[in-house]
Amino acid sequence: MKAKKIIGLEKKYVMQTYTRFNLTVDHGIGCYVYDKDNKKYLDFLGGIATCSVGHGNKDVAKAISEQAKKLLNITNLYYTEPQVILAEKLSKLSGLQKCFFCNSGTEANEAAIKLAKKVTKKKKFIAFEHSFHGRTTASLALTWKEKYKEPFKPLSPDVVFVKYNDINALEKAITDDIAAVIIEPIQGEAGVIVPDKGYLKKVEQLCHKNNILLIIDEVQSGNGKTGKFFAYLHEDIKPDIVTIAKGLANGVPIGVCISNLDFDKSQHASTFGGNNLSCAAANATIDYILKNKLMENAVKVGNYFMEKLNGLKKKCKIIKKVKGKGLMIGVELNENKAKEIVEKCLEKGLIINNATDNVLRFLPPLIISKKEVDKAIGILKGVL
Ligand SMILES: Cc1ncc(COP(=O)(O)O)c(C=O)c1O
Repeated sequence: MKAKKIIGLEKKYVMQTYTRFNLTVDHGIGCYVYDKDNKKYLDFLGGIATCSVGHGNKDVAKAISEQAKKLLNITNLYYTEPQVILAEKLSKLSGLQKCFFCNSGTEANEAAIKLAKKVTKKKKFIAFEHSFHGRTTASLALTWKEKYKEPFKPLSPDVVFVKYNDINALEKAITDDIAAVIIEPIQGEAGVIVPDKGYLKKVEQLCHKNNILLIIDEVQSGNGKTGKFFAYLHEDIKPDIVTIAKGLANGVPIGVCISNLDFDKSQHASTFGGNNLSCAAANATIDYILKNKLMENAVKVGNYFMEKLNGLKKKCKIIKKVKGKGLMIGVELNENKAKEIVEKCLEKGLIINNATDNVLRFLPPLIISKKEVDKAIGILKGVL
């Protein structure tokens, strides 16, 4: 089907919740994708952090295809092997014992919110200014942006928003009725905001001191992107609950809530949660990351990329600040021109994203090399 026809059908038959760029993607190989006319694009967004080990990854494709021929989903009425293999892997990687499987980041956070309410018997949460935790109603309640929430109010649970990266602000907000604090170790949608070193540890200590659960939302920062499988591992933290999704199965939908705490029977469930296909894809993705030392690559190539971006900053006045960790990188601009720059980069064959009006965001697959960074920098330099 031609791109023009696809766009026409989308306008007619798909609910118009998304503002799409003028690109119809057909297929991808490694860190490149191709449009309907076979024009090649360097993908420095990786499906907003969902593509961890590259498009068309052969190991993941093999695992998916073998699993698809064997069994896709039989539901959680029965035991299945890929699910327990994945649960054990995630337990070892996170240091937390048990997984609840679902299908997206927002669902993983819904599970975390329910678990925190169940265990503490309290109903109120602390979240952070500029946070993003998803679009289903409880996760949305804990999300900062008023525009997303306003038409759907009243939302539950009750929440107090506190300034991010300000431990005194958090301390002041603590009251007896708080079930949990939910925090992103790096705020992604807010424009790649990396807190000061030691801040997360202090958040953990405050939570423990006050008997409040700590939920770490690793939906965007997880899966090795920052150089550790979970970003909180950079600070020797033991959260009570961790949520993960996005790149865990390299693009196959999955979400997981991980904790030492547990639900009682039938308190939570998901028809597709932990299905054989998603779990087989996630197992192959994790194995590929570990086998190919992609977390080490994320640090090495991420540092190189940030160096090059800082080099650009010296030449381009529009760049205010380069920030990030590993391959979760943001460029803050002095002007609200992020969307315009993203569109110009796209025209020149580079996919990036505007997290906010003045922040460019880069979340490339963990397989990228310095060669691709040089190419992306060349395009960005021309555009800026
Ligand atoms: C930190 C964080 N939490 C939750 C979500 C929601 O994930 P999903 O879109 O899979 O529901 C996102 C999505 O961008 C996210 O960045």
